[in-house]
Amino acid sequence: MSVRRSGRLSPEARLSYTRDDWAARYREEDTPWDHGDPHPEVRRLISVGEFPTPSTGRRALVPGCGPAHDACAIAKLGFNVTGIDYTTEARDLGAAALEALGGEFRCEDALAFTPAERYDLVFEHTFLCAIDPSLRSSYGEMISRVLRPGGLFVVIVFPVNRPREEGGPPFALNLDDVREVLGSSFELRSHSPIECTREGREWREELAVFERGAP
Ligand SMILES: C[S@@+](CC[C@H](N)C(=O)[O-])C[C@H]1O[C@@H](n2cnc3c(N)ncnc32)[C@H](O)[C@@H]1O
Repeated sequence: MSVRRSGRLSPEARLSYTRDDWAARYREEDTPWDHGDPHPEVRRLISVGEFPTPSTGRRALVPGCGPAHDACAIAKLGFNVTGIDYTTEARDLGAAALEALGGEFRCEDALAFTPAERYDLVFEHTFLCAIDPSLRSSYGEMISRVLRPGGLFVVIVFPVNRPREEGGPPFALNLDDVREVLGSSFELRSHSPIECTREGREWREELAVFERGAP
């Protein structure tokens, strides 16, 4: 995701980022976050057999998945993946590929998602930094609702060093922000700089893995 703007949306729309605003970005192909493939660090971790996975369970959730490139990469690892994005435009781009891998694409508000069965893994990439910071507590509640105790929350933390005064999206996000969003029932298991970043990404990226403790 970058600060590049098409200039085609009204200034109000660019500030508010409602569902309609995201939908318009897809319709107008103004989607600098979409490179047509999974994040390079996801590809690297998978290729060296080091993508963080829970010791048991193969149910994974990718909230705010957009065209589902990361979701498909995780599905290819053998996970039964649910991708959620509330725009029909993202669904039209990603659902068929994810479903072909046995996954499910849900077109609804990820922050309100309440699954019948909890997940073993949640993968986060450019969804948390895309929502208004006032919605971060809802995001944390959703993660606590959907992830089973012992499950992993794997997050690409981005944009780490973006000046906060620039606003967003993407809104600045660092490890302390993620800790605060998740709350005290999550333990940090690992945290490192991203080895393979996207060419042209303007701000620092880090990989963090949290484990959900007992509720
Ligand atoms: C910057 S894009 C990133 C998409 C994807 N993670 C990727 O890396 O390609 C943010 C996505 O979040 C989606 N989104 C924003 N708020 C949402 C919500 N409350 N529920 C579901 N999707 C949401 C938008 O439609 C958009 O596709």
